[in-house]
Amino acid sequence: MASKLMVGNWKMHGSLAANASLLSEILSGMGGVNCRAALCVPSPYLTQAQSLLAGSALALGAQDVSDHESGAYTGEVSAAMLRDFAVRYCLVGHSERRQYHGETDAVVAIKAQRALSVGITPIVCVGERLAEREAGLTEAVVKRQLAAVIHANGHCISEIVVAYEPVWAIGTGLTATPEQAQGVHAVLRTQLQAATAQAERVSILYGGSMNAANASSLLAQPDVDGGLIGGASLKATDFLSMLKAASR
Ligand code: 13P
Repeated sequence: MASKLMVGNWKMHGSLAANASLLSEILSGMGGVNCRAALCVPSPYLTQAQSLLAGSALALGAQDVSDHESGAYTGEVSAAMLRDFAVRYCLVGHSERRQYHGETDAVVAIKAQRALSVGITPIVCVGERLAEREAGLTEAVVKRQLAAVIHANGHCISEIVVAYEPVWAIGTGLTATPEQAQGVHAVLRTQLQAATAQAERVSILYGGSMNAANASSLLAQPDVDGGLIGGASLKATDFLSMLKAASR
């Protein structure tokens, strides 16, 4: 199995000054980190992050990509544009995009396709809402979300990353227990195995209030291949401690 993959999602946080100091603090503490790592920054800061991360062990990521290739789509950013800034990873289908921007499973699947077509690894986010968990629908929801992406990207599905982010755990301080995370990750792994002989190439990340205190126990689960971290990725010491937990 490849090394763990730890991805920070800054969401809509940052400024030129704040980013510069956060990145410098993170980069100066990377000694001993041997997991894979990336930061998904807001689009206006891609150029700043590209130059500050150049030559480092931290890869550059984006938070979204248009489902269109190019054209009259005001406000959208295409996969080819992201590629121009050496973007390596791109989140697609984050629950905040699904919830506030009406992204459907079909749109998310096309976004993954756009990223793959220019050599960017899509990090496909799936996860159930609290009411869905309480109704016993967790497995059905995440399988439906992943199935759309598998259907649209069949032959290159082994090139994606999957992130399981239970919606009720995002930004709430509530975390899935390691056993809950492992249970869903195992379901996703089985679904990938049915779709490709190379399912072991796909990293399945956990996201949702992952922090310096709980990272180790989540990462110890056999099917938790890394983390997708929101709030705690904005604090250099916390993020570094999670990178170190993933490097053991
Ligand atoms: P938090 O770590 O802030 O809960 O956010 C998780 C997330 O949505 C990462 O994409």
